[in-house]
Amino acid sequence: MDADASGDGTRERERSGGGASTAAGVFADGGRPEWYRDAVVYSLDVKTFRDSDGDGWGDVRGVIDRLDYLDDLGVDCLWLRPFYPSPLRDNGYDVADYRDVDDRLGSLDDFDALVDELDERGMRLITDLVLNHTSIDHEWFQRAREDPESEYHDYYLWTSHVEEAYHTENIFPEFEDGVWSYDETAGKHYFHQFYWHQPDLNVANPAVQEELFSIAEFWLDRGVDGFRIDAAHPMILPKGHDAHRLEDPQGLFRELKRRVRAVNDEAVLLAEADDEPDRLDFYFADGEGFDALFNFVGNSHVTYGIGVEDVWPLYRMFEVLPEPDPDGHAWWANFLRNHDEWNLLKLPHEALEHAREEFRQGGDGRDSWIFGRGHRLRLADLYDGDHDRIAMAHSLLLSLPGTPIVNSGDEIGMHADLDLPERQAVRTPMRWDGSEPNAGFSEADPGDLVIPVDGTGWPGVYQADVASQRGVEGSLFERVADAVRARRDSPAVSRGEFSIVHTDPTEVWAHRFDREGRALLCVHNFSGEPREVVVGFDVDPADAERVLGDADYRVADGGVTASLDGCGYLWLRGERR
Ligand code: GLC
Repeated sequence: MDADASGDGTRERERSGGGASTAAGVFADGGRPEWYRDAVVYSLDVKTFRDSDGDGWGDVRGVIDRLDYLDDLGVDCLWLRPFYPSPLRDNGYDVADYRDVDDRLGSLDDFDALVDELDERGMRLITDLVLNHTSIDHEWFQRAREDPESEYHDYYLWTSHVEEAYHTENIFPEFEDGVWSYDETAGKHYFHQFYWHQPDLNVANPAVQEELFSIAEFWLDRGVDGFRIDAAHPMILPKGHDAHRLEDPQGLFRELKRRVRAVNDEAVLLAEADDEPDRLDFYFADGEGFDALFNFVGNSHVTYGIGVEDVWPLYRMFEVLPEPDPDGHAWWANFLRNHDEWNLLKLPHEALEHAREEFRQGGDGRDSWIFGRGHRLRLADLYDGDHDRIAMAHSLLLSLPGTPIVNSGDEIGMHADLDLPERQAVRTPMRWDGSEPNAGFSEADPGDLVIPVDGTGWPGVYQADVASQRGVEGSLFERVADAVRARRDSPAVSRGEFSIVHTDPTEVWAHRFDREGRALLCVHNFSGEPREVVVGFDVDPADAERVLGDADYRVADGGVTASLDGCGYLWLRGERR
């Protein structure tokens, strides 16, 4: 594709290679871009990160202004949540136009400027692509509902006989009774697995598929390095009146990958596919499908295990998931919390029930439990604002096989605001400086803010900010930044051979990576109390090097004795004997 042909300012970033348009070229051995396996991703929402022009909305220029902050944190890839024109009935996951920037958030020129800035800093950029549904405000839906003869009508799924149609549970069960809503203009019901205002696209329609591919190409031409594919699992579920399924879902993933790689041979596809563990391999399509999947199994198990101070959930996670294999095609994007509810469905039933009550907060209409499956809480709420535990959790996240994703605000321990509805509770604006109006997020009148800044946190609970932590030794921010640096300095995590190292106390988790004769050992104490552990470590004592953590340790006789503080952690490496 000729990126400059449009003459509208789109342009291609300089690439090594590119233009491989044949299937063989795209999938040839070594064709897998490795950068994302070594990357540390930071996930942010433009509209709540930083408002540069004082209108109360975070904007793309605001992100540019704060890139130094992200450099300090050490992350090298941004994932921007949807910034497209949207009525924002689902925080932007209801897209009204796929090829523009919402004007409250900036312009395409601003987006290009961000791409340039990121390029200069050697940072990558991933954007969110919502291909399962549009907003009802999207022009396709407007035309579809007005004219049943229009080609757009078949972009969606309709029925005139809703009683006889396929019914299934809505993904937002608390808010929606089912998957059909009546449209007065069309005089028919349309199918939606999410909110009523998010009609599912008929992804089996080749014309829809072509639209989706060309949207991806549009953003690749503007210089993005890949996409987070929203709702990849619902995309391939049965849809519409007859519960129609895609004949060859892997064929759709493959074609998406082929089209994407033809524009940028390093572009990656990261899928939100929250499917059953034994179905996950399917999404990789033997290396021809998605490059990585969000690790929902890992998220529920790791975050829960740390919260209950027991490592059994980690053992279970590694039993349940496909084996980590640095040379294989399966790859995880790991996270502790994301912008949605903390989804617990992948925990065994008893643990889910336990987590529902153990971590539940609020009450009286402020209940944290949502959708019957999770908590609308941030990491700091789950761990009672304990910075030692949050720091240790990040150290573990950054040492696990897979690509770590840091959720904006968690690196400073921001709390949720349960006074806000639904998942807005975990989406309050970034708190830059608590001593400034709107905590430094915006100069606007507080009443004009896109989402209120959470000034108080929970009654009596400390609400974090950047100013009190950045550059302050021992602060949560600096400890997370140290862990990010440790990860970037340890390619063994993404390329080495992973193994679990058994330890005695059930609160201490240890694992290691072996690569080219060297070992990297990572030990994490989930207990709030000190623990001493002895684990095998076949490294010459003189050669053992501390990578991260301040625990005392002694290497001798083929093992290491580590004295970990409560929530302490230690990464050690060295040449194997
Ligand atoms: C994904 C997003 C979520 C959104 C939903 C519908 O699950 O993470 O925020 O509401 O898709 O697009």
